[in-house]
Amino acid sequence: MDQTNSRKLEHLRVIAEDANIQRDATGFDGVDLTHRALPNIDFDAIDTRVQFLGKTLSFPFLISSMTGGVDQEISRINHNLAAAAEQCGVAMAVGSQRVMFVNPDAQNSFNLREIAPNVPLLSNLGAVQLNMGFGIKECQAAVNLLQADGLYLHLNPLQEAVQPEGDRNFANLEQRIAEIVKDLSVPVLLKEVGSGLSTTDIAAGLGAGVLHFDVAGRGGTSWSRIEYHRRVDDEDNLGLQFQDWGLTTVQSLRAATHYLQRNAPDACLISSGGMRSGIDMVKAMVLGAHLCGFAAPLLNAARESSESVVRKIEMIRRTFKSAMFLLGCANCSELRGNTALLLKRDYQS
Ligand SMILES: Cc1cc2nc3c(=O)[nH]c(=O)nc-3n(C[C@H](O)[C@H](O)[C@H](O)COP(=O)(O)O)c2cc1C
Repeated sequence: MDQTNSRKLEHLRVIAEDANIQRDATGFDGVDLTHRALPNIDFDAIDTRVQFLGKTLSFPFLISSMTGGVDQEISRINHNLAAAAEQCGVAMAVGSQRVMFVNPDAQNSFNLREIAPNVPLLSNLGAVQLNMGFGIKECQAAVNLLQADGLYLHLNPLQEAVQPEGDRNFANLEQRIAEIVKDLSVPVLLKEVGSGLSTTDIAAGLGAGVLHFDVAGRGGTSWSRIEYHRRVDDEDNLGLQFQDWGLTTVQSLRAATHYLQRNAPDACLISSGGMRSGIDMVKAMVLGAHLCGFAAPLLNAARESSESVVRKIEMIRRTFKSAMFLLGCANCSELRGNTALLLKRDYQS
């Protein structure tokens, strides 16, 4: 089995074995919202729908990038996630498609459009691959196979720094990304993988023509800790030292919202990294997110069946809608960026 594929399997094993890979420190615990005892709205009339990439989602939920490869289990995970995305009317991103250029057998795991004909599907490649021989040809091929609505380029310098075989040449990537944005048939989305985007990163992305940003902040899955388990030298503890490095999801969201409001008010902001409930979702939306991405919380369900994934997403949707009710928000426009919903500390006794 090739290295890219076996690495995916190793990641899955490590995530299952070490509970502390989930850092549980996004900052959402410190965001308090104002409960309304008199919400003045009918629960049944609440409209949770949002638009994303020209399609309607039943609520602002995205299955974040996880897998893809030749292994049967990996294929099954993607197929279960895609079937659940279609049934729930939510968006889905696949894991890095680099593997399909190494081993064409991996293509099957990304062949999801028949399973999910109506929802936004997003391709994924590591931005650093643009310095390793990948260009518009590979990006467009990844998009075409999935019939994707957009391409995620992920930025994972910490993971690459810790990974024994990491690709660490991030020089001039801004310019490479701009070339892809210019020629690709669909929008490019920039994401981190759990250490957050800073406003300087967002400024660079805007400079390259990107208008979709997924903060993928710190506080959920720690890729530094995952790679620590793959160290070749027992004494190498780099991954542990950096396991809590980066901007939390809340820090990254607040900074991104502030920056985008002034510099690109039409840009789309996605909150991910440690999102664990519908309550985290409403908090992220109040802080300015259009959409929220969940990765690790869906993994076990995706190993089981599409029905398990549907159950998980439906529970999150119910929580999200209940929180909207308790804030008196009849639709997502009333929620998003509405900082009046934040609890005013001065009134707390
Ligand atoms: C098993 C697994 C595999 C992942 N693979 C990718 C990937 O290939 N590309 C990517 O951009 N992000 C990948 N991620 C990162 C997630 O998309 C997400 O940014 C990160 O895990 C934080 O979200 P979470 O805390 O909800 O897991 C992966 C996450 C998991 C759990």
